[in-house]
Amino acid sequence: MLYEINGSSFPVYSLLYFNHIFSGSFAQKKTTDQKVDSVLKLMTLDEKIGQMNQYNGDWAATGPITKDGDKQTQIKNGMVGSMLNVTGVDHTRTLQQIAMQSRMKIPLLFGQDVIHGYRTIFPLPLAEAASWDLKAMEQSARIAAVEASAAGVHWTFAPMVDIARDPRWGRVMEGAGEDTYLGSLIAAARVKGFQGRGLGNTDAVMACAKHFAAYGAAVAGRDYNSVDMSLRQLLETYLPPFKAAADAGAATFMNSFNDLNGIPATGNAYLQREILKRKWNFKGFVVSDWGSVGEMINHGFVKDNYEAAMAAANAGSDMDMESRSYIQNLATLVKEGKVKISVVDDAVKRILKKKFEMGLFAEPYKFCNEAREKEQWNNPAHIVAARDIARKSIVLLKNEKQLLPLSKQTKTIALIGPFVKAKADNLGFWSYDWPDDTARIVSVWDGIKTKIGTSTKLLYAKGCDIKDTSRSGFAEAVEAAMQSDVVIITAGEARDMTGEAKSKSIIRLPGVQEDLIKAVAATGKPVVVLISAGRPLVFNWIANNVPAIVYTWWLGTQAGNAIADVLFGDYNPSAKLPISFPRTEGQIPIYYNHYNTGRPAHNDSDLNYVSAYIDLPNSPQYAFGYGLSYTSFLYSDIELSKKSFKSGEKLTVKCTVANAGNYEGEETVQLYIRDLFGSVVRPVKELKGFQKLFLKKGESKTVEFIITADDLRFYNDKLQYIYEPGDFKVFVGGSSDNVKEADFRLIK
Ligand code: GLC
Repeated sequence: MLYEINGSSFPVYSLLYFNHIFSGSFAQKKTTDQKVDSVLKLMTLDEKIGQMNQYNGDWAATGPITKDGDKQTQIKNGMVGSMLNVTGVDHTRTLQQIAMQSRMKIPLLFGQDVIHGYRTIFPLPLAEAASWDLKAMEQSARIAAVEASAAGVHWTFAPMVDIARDPRWGRVMEGAGEDTYLGSLIAAARVKGFQGRGLGNTDAVMACAKHFAAYGAAVAGRDYNSVDMSLRQLLETYLPPFKAAADAGAATFMNSFNDLNGIPATGNAYLQREILKRKWNFKGFVVSDWGSVGEMINHGFVKDNYEAAMAAANAGSDMDMESRSYIQNLATLVKEGKVKISVVDDAVKRILKKKFEMGLFAEPYKFCNEAREKEQWNNPAHIVAARDIARKSIVLLKNEKQLLPLSKQTKTIALIGPFVKAKADNLGFWSYDWPDDTARIVSVWDGIKTKIGTSTKLLYAKGCDIKDTSRSGFAEAVEAAMQSDVVIITAGEARDMTGEAKSKSIIRLPGVQEDLIKAVAATGKPVVVLISAGRPLVFNWIANNVPAIVYTWWLGTQAGNAIADVLFGDYNPSAKLPISFPRTEGQIPIYYNHYNTGRPAHNDSDLNYVSAYIDLPNSPQYAFGYGLSYTSFLYSDIELSKKSFKSGEKLTVKCTVANAGNYEGEETVQLYIRDLFGSVVRPVKELKGFQKLFLKKGESKTVEFIITADDLRFYNDKLQYIYEPGDFKVFVGGSSDNVKEADFRLIK
């Protein structure tokens, strides 16, 4: 006998099941946990393990594919809890309908890497981090969630919150750079953006803080490589952004590929059980990374998938992405007592709870709405937002003699380089290629052509390819430059040169791009170089010889418009680097919040038995927090409310910032501290605050920061998170290497 609910038919016995989970007329109001328990009681061991199993869809892949079995049959048999890389209302509905034919009718979760946009692509996360605009980053994630959820996606594998100090690592593009304080604020902003008004809303997707943990500290910047660090460093530098994501309500975590201090993160109970689930009381669930359960065999941590499943489940990995270790071994492990049923039940309850919170039990097709999908497919408001944050992400690195902004009435402009007319490259890694992208993506050429006046003549010469070594296009480029009043040259990496599995030992401009720039610069024409990449690159000759340099990262769908807005002064660049730029690969890792050492160099030329290179200045090419404006901001001396204060009291730090130039603009005023003496050595600077100030020409504003003893906490050698009375410096400025300073004391 069957009966109907929500258009689906169910056998009568599951009326009991629905009696448990719906608060219908014949059932008291159930809490979500009670509903979860009710469902769990009805599940077989195999069905429970099915919930812990995630497969990739058959339309796209983001990892090494396993060709096996019929996934749809497994879904129908209740052997799959989630699918990834399945998008679109039609595809997701098809698979959800199959899940509704299973005995327990537990809905599938659809996960997707919506890292910096879905249909509308936003700047790379590292580029967005350069905006230091938390609201804009939250909105970017919000729009990504609106578009993805309209396409049937329930869950994004983002934000990636890995601190990264090594630009050889390709995934540096995916995070928020080198700083823990900024990275933690951005992690929270992105979680809030993705989850919006909360799970259960049709425009909210589950966030996933990844990759837990310390993946960005891979030895030698080589992706998937080992990580080895003190627990103190882990707790102080790498874990806080994950804690911030958890505190912001991240629904899920994803563990990382790397081994951490000898134990793969996927099998690391300290990370997942001790820190995440016990100490942080995390109630969501943890998904492995692609195949990372099975990869513990390669790590040499387990002998086979049987042991891998045991290690991962017992360590707290609740869902197995694509390794098949759980679906093939967990039932045996439970029957043999190697994995307690309580471990499986805990994992399954965490997963089921999210499915309830997402509203999928009540409405399995809640996210399958063609009208919404159509409406969000070309939402003009999203394009406006994409252009706005793209402009805010552009870093002005150099602008000698105020070459920029250019006049819209410039007579002749030569546009040279392999990215002038590039389209898809503007999207960067972790983006999607839609059929109409050529029309939708704004290239540099498109943006400038739209921006300039009818009287301006645009010349174009590609000059060279991205990585090809042919110089055959140089002559045409030089000729175009000779006919112009100013030259704009695009240079950089292809979109797939920075990203997952894209570590590089040499991070310079590929091919002969730098030679092209030298050839064009030799004409004596004023040159503006635009550099597009997902990571900091090394470009010393350009840095020393080209008058204007703009770092444009990969800015997404609206790249060309945002770049034109900046180049022609419709937006005064305000971005600040979220990561240090090395002078050469030999300097890596280089980061601003380093320790002082016993023999600090006193300047870039000090080589007198100090910690320095004899062949290179110690300082970075460009410092963390650095970025120019078309105007100039002058900082007053710092004013402190007191010279010393006790814990429980507040210290007020004031500084007046004046716009002394000819353009109104925004400055990100940064606050750093230094603990001069500690029971463990302390960094020479630590970012502890920032404020964005918009100042009209000639306008001044006073910024005020509050420092309390809690801002001075750090992990001591006993891993206690403490502050210590003593002497401190406070710094305020527009870059970590250009600050005003003052002294204060924390007293007992
Ligand atoms: C990849 C990435 C991870 C991503 C997952 C699913 O290997 O490491 O960040 O979310 O697989 O695509």
